[in-house]
Amino acid sequence: MTVETPITALWPAPSSMPLDDSALTACYGRTDLNSAEAPRTGGPDRSRLRVNFVTSVDGAVTVDGYSAGLSGEPDKRVFRLLRMLCDALVVAGGTMRHERYRPLRLDERRRAWRREHGLPECPTLVVVSGSANLDPTHPALADAPVRPIVLTRTAATAPPGLADVADLVECGDDRVDLATGLAELRRRGLDQLLCEGGPHLFGALTAADLVDEVCLTVAPLLAGAGPGRITAGEPSPVRHLPLRHVLAAADGGLLLRYARD
Ligand SMILES: NC(=O)c1ccc[n+]([C@@H]2O[C@H](COP(=O)([O-])OP(=O)(O)OC[C@H]3O[C@@H](n4cnc5c(N)ncnc54)[C@H](OP(=O)(O)O)[C@@H]3O)[C@@H](O)[C@H]2O)c1
Repeated sequence: MTVETPITALWPAPSSMPLDDSALTACYGRTDLNSAEAPRTGGPDRSRLRVNFVTSVDGAVTVDGYSAGLSGEPDKRVFRLLRMLCDALVVAGGTMRHERYRPLRLDERRRAWRREHGLPECPTLVVVSGSANLDPTHPALADAPVRPIVLTRTAATAPPGLADVADLVECGDDRVDLATGLAELRRRGLDQLLCEGGPHLFGALTAADLVDEVCLTVAPLLAGAGPGRITAGEPSPVRHLPLRHVLAAADGGLLLRYARD
């Protein structure tokens, strides 16, 4: 059994007591289950979007090409918690291929939490891919517990077999219109979205002003020059994102949550 690294709250309400699972769940929550807060859906036409990344102190998105070198046990705990809380997990084709995503299954404890809260046992995987060049035998697609969705564009040519394992949703002709994609996800009842990147998708979502929340783990590491940032691609206007909480892990990592009203 893994011994959990303690996580404590620093701000806005400091506590020296380590947060147990239910306290940690309350720190992140789902907007529709948190009656103390005003409804914070993404708006009448689209789902609410939370983005989760891990970075080094000097802003690197990877160590040796992967996020794993940045992610300690407390980050993984929050990573799994955020998956438990969402209706759909949105990931770019690039990150799904590179990070070798596995089928989106949750352990029994988390499935039980979802059942208790009237949610399907597992969230839906949503892959954003302009090319639709996704391997239908990729385990995250072929062995998915819930039929995945691919947000793509009309001009894409999907490989044979992809439509057998996923719903292909065309949003735009020459590029994937992410606002249209999020509106379609909402139409399907997928209201609370978690995006795990990668940087090009995050950059495009920021440029389209679709990011409602960012959960950021700062690992106590200097990665040095070389790796990119957690965002990439097209430029965007600067946007204000208020800080909502600061949690500290005993391994020296910080778990930050930023969200707009
Ligand atoms: N530190 C972290 O928390 C974290 C999280 C995630 C990823 N990463 C790292 O980030 C790196 C991957 O980054 P990346 O540059 O490949 O970025 P990415 O955003 O993961 O992938 C880019 C690819 O995803 C698809 N895509 C992304 N945005 C799209 C959009 N708006 N419209 C249509 N398609 C879109 C395209 O795939 P198609 O070719 O299929 O069209 C594009 O080629 C890896 O090293 C990974 O380890 C780190």
